[in-house]
Amino acid sequence: MSNHYQILDQWCAQSPVIPVITLYKTEHAVPLANALAKGGLSILEVTLRTDCALESIKLMREACPQLLIGAGSVLDTRTLWAAQEVGSQFIVSPGAGPQLLQALAQCQIPVLPGIASISEMLTGYELGLRRFKFFPANINGGVAALKAFSGPIKDVKFCPTGGVNLDNMNDYLALDNVFAVGGTWIVPTDLIEQENWQAITDLAKECLIKSQQVQRSL
Ligand code: 3PG
Repeated sequence: MSNHYQILDQWCAQSPVIPVITLYKTEHAVPLANALAKGGLSILEVTLRTDCALESIKLMREACPQLLIGAGSVLDTRTLWAAQEVGSQFIVSPGAGPQLLQALAQCQIPVLPGIASISEMLTGYELGLRRFKFFPANINGGVAALKAFSGPIKDVKFCPTGGVNLDNMNDYLALDNVFAVGGTWIVPTDLIEQENWQAITDLAKECLIKSQQVQRSL
């Protein structure tokens, strides 16, 4: 197994809930990262859906060396390089075309290409990839689909996102082939806009405590 995956698995064993963050103001980046860290979460995904995302990743990396900070919503090779240039420590994509997939397979940091089916997963598998984002999880079969994947595919693990929330996250985390879950529910846009960092710390804490109720096999 790639060393990248060991690092990712180790981090996720401690902190298996990954907030999927969209930032609209650079000045929110560091206070948000600190609020999540205070709540006990140590892995954050900043989506490249807004203009301030790359700069935000850079600022978070400088201010919060104790966190693992990745870039999400990476759609093409141009943004993949840009994300790495600002210091992203892992890469997430919602799906991947052939060019992006090839580039992801050659990355020197952990990558989580998005897949929604076994065939998409096997395309990455052929390139050596063994960790994927399962997206959008809830409308592609959710827990039942991941259970079915574990029949034929033994050495792959997933991070489901899309419709994952506090109520169902432990159903996913209880699966042997799930190393983490992700979602936006931990970082609601209105709380970020209100700069209500305490409420975000509380949400993070709630997620972490809940995740610790699951016996995980990692
Ligand atoms: C993602 O990119 O992973 C999704 O936007 C997260 O989906 P959610 O909003 O249902 O958590």
